[in-house]
Amino acid sequence: MFHHFIGQKLSRSEKIQAWVVSCLVNSKIPQIKRESSVIWELKHSSGVIQFARLLAQKRGINEELAVVAAALHDIFVVLDGSYNQHAKKGATIAKKILKRYKFNSREIAQICEAIASHSDKHVYSEKPLVELIKDADCVDCFFYGDGIYNSKPKEITKHYYGRIISIRKEIGLPAKHYFTNALNGGMK
Ligand SMILES: [Fe+2]
Ligand SMILES: [Fe+2]
Repeated sequence: MFHHFIGQKLSRSEKIQAWVVSCLVNSKIPQIKRESSVIWELKHSSGVIQFARLLAQKRGINEELAVVAAALHDIFVVLDGSYNQHAKKGATIAKKILKRYKFNSREIAQICEAIASHSDKHVYSEKPLVELIKDADCVDCFFYGDGIYNSKPKEITKHYYGRIISIRKEIGLPAKHYFTNALNGGMK
């Protein structure tokens, strides 16, 4: 029977997921000092974790590493409330957390690289875990609204649209006119 995050039998990945949730629900940073809400961060981290799991299974990537990288990808925002350079700063924090939960140096390097580069949606690497975290982040955000990234510059948003179009195809979802139109420079 599944433990539902109760008791002592949590895996290291589950312990990290639980730790992220506890950081948010026990945060001392008032809402006014946060760029996003605690509610958003709770929903977003949970969403990205599940989409990372889905994409990991689809692409044959190590699921545990994908889940942990997803859980920690916005850890700087979770702890600090700011998005300024949060990917790089978050990777430094993640390194300490991962050591605490007995991840080895190779796993830590892979997870931290994915966290550090997750904001660079315009960069397409050959590294499966790095691309998976960027993609899982996009999938979760776009499910809150097609225009969620529209405050970013057009040169940047086109990469988000390109990613969501190809991920939807990959997982068998129908093409969406909004995204193809926006990618081609149409009215958003
Ligand atoms: Fe982020
Ligand atoms: Fe994110």
